[in-house]
Amino acid sequence: MKRGEFLKSLTGLALASALAPRAFAGRAARTGTLADWPLMDPTDDRFWGFVREQFPLTRERAYMNTGGLGASPHVVIEGVKAKMDELEEICEVGRDEETWNTIKAMAAELLGSDPEEIAFTHNTTEGINIVANGLPFSEGDEVILSTQEHVANILPWLAMKKRKGIRLRLFEPSTKTPQENLDRIQKLITGKTRLISISHVVTTTGLVLPVKEIGEIARAKGIWYFVDGAQTPGMFPFSLHDMGCDAFATSGHKWLMGPKETGLFYVRKDMLDVYEPPFLGAHSGGPFDFEKRTFSYNPTAERYEYGTVNVPLRVGLGAAIGFIQKIGIGNIWKRDEMLSTRLFQGLREIPGVRVLSPENPTMRSAMITFMHETVAYLELQKHLNTYNLRTRSVSEGGLEALRVSTHIYNSLEEVERVLEGVRSVGKG
Ligand SMILES: Cc1ncc(COP(=O)(O)O)c(C=O)c1O
Repeated sequence: MKRGEFLKSLTGLALASALAPRAFAGRAARTGTLADWPLMDPTDDRFWGFVREQFPLTRERAYMNTGGLGASPHVVIEGVKAKMDELEEICEVGRDEETWNTIKAMAAELLGSDPEEIAFTHNTTEGINIVANGLPFSEGDEVILSTQEHVANILPWLAMKKRKGIRLRLFEPSTKTPQENLDRIQKLITGKTRLISISHVVTTTGLVLPVKEIGEIARAKGIWYFVDGAQTPGMFPFSLHDMGCDAFATSGHKWLMGPKETGLFYVRKDMLDVYEPPFLGAHSGGPFDFEKRTFSYNPTAERYEYGTVNVPLRVGLGAAIGFIQKIGIGNIWKRDEMLSTRLFQGLREIPGVRVLSPENPTMRSAMITFMHETVAYLELQKHLNTYNLRTRSVSEGGLEALRVSTHIYNSLEEVERVLEGVRSVGKG
């Protein structure tokens, strides 16, 4: 089979079963293979009902914290289990070129990059730490960050400040217009600016930053550019090559719905030698000569991988990407956007509620953040718990708010339940 055909055949459950053929057969019969989905019409609500059935996620509680952690469908869970069963029977690691290249090719297709630019990591945090520890910073170098970064994009920089004497320059992200964000970043740039490190989607308010335009500024000024993409792959379509960042880190266990403790790290081909790998071991290197004390890095982004890894988790990540491709990332975004738009509009109509997510729909993601003027955010969250709603409290960036994520396993009924819960708070 040609490589292209092989890749095409390895989508979703097909990937999991192809990579773990024996143990998977039983479960496939129970869940149905993706190839036999009865209805492939994302405009029909029954299609989303069928998608919902692919998740073991309890129906007793509406799970609306994908920004924190994504639920996995059966195809992922069973793919991991089957691969683990297979490998434990023979006690082998199971890491082979074909599996690795296949999953990376699927990830690259989704992210708009080349497979050689992708490394497997454990989470977004690991990718950010590679950037902070791998770039050649000197004392006095400046890094631009927003004030509302996730702790994972704060602590590595505070550590670099302590260890290398870099300076951190911060801008308050604007939820009004993309241009305000560009202006605020421009104002912080000096002759000492070495890196812009910002979120694609800001964790606090779900704000989408103008990452492509920021990339144009960075490129024009010769500044390194890293994007924390924890919140975007699996939520909406984009292309890393189009975005123009040097490096990008994400987690498999959020919107991608992959196994927990999986991540992807991208470095553009021409920047591989700039972002040096801080951890090295098996797989990180090209040839080395211990006697002559010479070595080279793996020519691809695989240089950021090292040592023994959990292959079943990566197989599960491949199955998750296949599941997403089967539904179509464009269809996923339409669904997530429809749900979050209804939530946004409904919340804005409730007296006493202040929505912190942007009004401009092009700046909004599928995470909506809001607060109540008279009810403390943790009280409001407790009240929503009584409606069997899992929300996320937001205390980062000085906010005291709640965040609700809407992904493909959520429904309009659940969104209406959030609205009903918020409407009823403080009414005895
Ligand atoms: C913007 C952002 N960056 C980084 C992270 C950290 O992700 P992980 O814990 O998977 O490394 C998160 C998690 O919520 C996030 O929202």
